[in-house]
Amino acid sequence: MKILGIETSCDETGVAVVEGSTLSVPVKILSNVVATSEELHKKTGGIVPEVAARRQMEVMIPVLKEGLRNFSSDEIEAIAVTIGPGLIGSLLVGVETAKALAFAWNKPIIPVNHVLAHLYANWIDKSHKLQETSNKKKSKVPEFPAIGLVVSGGHTDIVLMRGHGKLKYLGGTRDDAAGECFDKCARVLLGVPYPGGAAIEKAARKFDKKNTNKEYRLPRPMIDKETLDMSFSGLKTALFRLTKKMGVLSKEQKRMIAYELQEAIVEVLVAKVSLAIERFHPKSLVIGGGVTANKRLREGVKEIGKKYQVKVFIPELEWCLDNAAMIATAALYRPIIKPFYKIQADPTLEITD
Ligand code: KG4
Ligand code: ZN
Repeated sequence: MKILGIETSCDETGVAVVEGSTLSVPVKILSNVVATSEELHKKTGGIVPEVAARRQMEVMIPVLKEGLRNFSSDEIEAIAVTIGPGLIGSLLVGVETAKALAFAWNKPIIPVNHVLAHLYANWIDKSHKLQETSNKKKSKVPEFPAIGLVVSGGHTDIVLMRGHGKLKYLGGTRDDAAGECFDKCARVLLGVPYPGGAAIEKAARKFDKKNTNKEYRLPRPMIDKETLDMSFSGLKTALFRLTKKMGVLSKEQKRMIAYELQEAIVEVLVAKVSLAIERFHPKSLVIGGGVTANKRLREGVKEIGKKYQVKVFIPELEWCLDNAAMIATAALYRPIIKPFYKIQADPTLEITD
């Protein structure tokens, strides 16, 4: 069956078509289109929700047309749409578009949780690159029980997945998400607009470790605590204080602080996921969300897999950031077929809802 996915929870507008009827084999992506309003946010230094939603209203139809270019409505069996969490104005653009299509085409809607869908990016067929059929690398799906880690701009959650739809929340950030910490620190340290995570990674990579100076050490909040909860707001404040104290910073000093920040965030995430594995002995570790594009985090997570003999699943870079392919993929696990008029956006949806 072919499922149309629509994603508009934050500043991206995504449309995808996937093929599949079960999650016991990797899901094939037939089309995927993402439009971002990042350019617009550069002027304001961050996302202004009304600006993001207005832009999404402008691009929703063109993105939809492009995503559906090779398909007729008869081929689509259901419409999967992100209903939350996210910015209400943005969510409404996707949800109302899905409802209009469902009504016009007489198709069911499958409501999808955006945060959970980041983990389902690991059920996407890795051997299948769009418009490329020759690459037949073996692709497998995660086995349960699995530990799931979502690290994005708005969420940092650890869950136990006993099966599809059998989720237990284990812990997460008590304040800022890891991505938010990257973004806010990037703005102060490097003067870059949202999203700043990739800029921190780039600066950190250029840092020459011979220049390490312990005066620039940042805290690893809650790292030794026997809890799966985390906190990143104190780390952000520590970086703000450090940059203020040091005054005008050279390029290398900025790189050192960026490196420290990345190490601090990755070390905390690695420690918490390790603790979850020690407690629950999963077969797989699945991670997802924009921050999992970070190479240092990807390496850290692979190390955990080796240490605990757990299979690690990390999405391809294309599926780490917000996209509609993961939304349509997540829809395959429990097609809650609902009539369109019962679908509502919910900005505060939790990962386990
Ligand atoms: O999942 P996502 O696209 O949107 C949300 O659902 O929030 O994640 C966006 C987040 C931003 O905070 C961005 O700075 C972060 O992912 N990010 C990174 C990297 N690439 C994106 N953080 C660290 N290193 C990266 N390479
Ligand atoms: Zn996301």
